[in-house]
Amino acid sequence: MPPLHEEPPVEMFLRFVLPEDRDAVSALLASAFPTDAEARLVEALRDAGDMVVELVAVIDGEIQGHIAFSRHHAPKGWICLAPLAVARRQRRHGIGGELVRYGLDHVRRQKAQAVTVLGDSKYYRRFGFTHKAAENLTSPFPEEHTLLYPIAPGSAGTAAHLVYAEAFLRF
Ligand SMILES: CC(C)(COP(=O)(O)OP(=O)(O)OC[C@H]1O[C@@H](n2cnc3c(N)ncnc32)[C@H](O)[C@@H]1OP(=O)(O)O)[C@@H](O)C(=O)NCCC(=O)NCCS
Repeated sequence: MPPLHEEPPVEMFLRFVLPEDRDAVSALLASAFPTDAEARLVEALRDAGDMVVELVAVIDGEIQGHIAFSRHHAPKGWICLAPLAVARRQRRHGIGGELVRYGLDHVRRQKAQAVTVLGDSKYYRRFGFTHKAAENLTSPFPEEHTLLYPIAPGSAGTAAHLVYAEAFLRF
């Protein structure tokens, strides 16, 4: 029996950001967060050469999700995940999760040592981020919200001070 309601086909894929995505990414970030601080943070990370990789989720030709990974200035080889955003009307369909998993796979292949995130452990622990792995880190940001995804052997539990890209201290 044919379905009662024919849903229009939805095409979703992830890809690396392109220079021409700049305005669409800024608009997405400004609408996903309360202010445009995250949009300006991403611009500043790019301008300073601190961005490592950005991915976008494209749905029916429109950018509906974005994730950024930038370098920590210390420890060497450590990466920071921030920000992550999905358009409000597309949330809870797994797009955020796809962006995180694909991004972590990418930075692992690029030989990142570990990835930090400042965020809610209820969300990020499903990907392998833990407070436990970050317990010996000090940070200019709240340590109770700092989570670590260890990659290199021994990176879990490292005692070190996290030095963020300068843009994080401006926005
Ligand atoms: C966080 C965000 C990217 C998740 O995107 P998404 O595509 O909805 O994520 P997924 O579909 O993969 O996962 C949704 C799940 O995460 C949960 N979730 C979303 N935001 C959460 C948060 N801040 N804390 C805890 N859980 C959260 C949802 O309740 C949902 O849970 P369920 O799977 O048990 O139903 C999206 O909600 C968003 O853009 N929020 C505003 C920006 C933001 O806060 N970014 C994160 C900090 S940089």
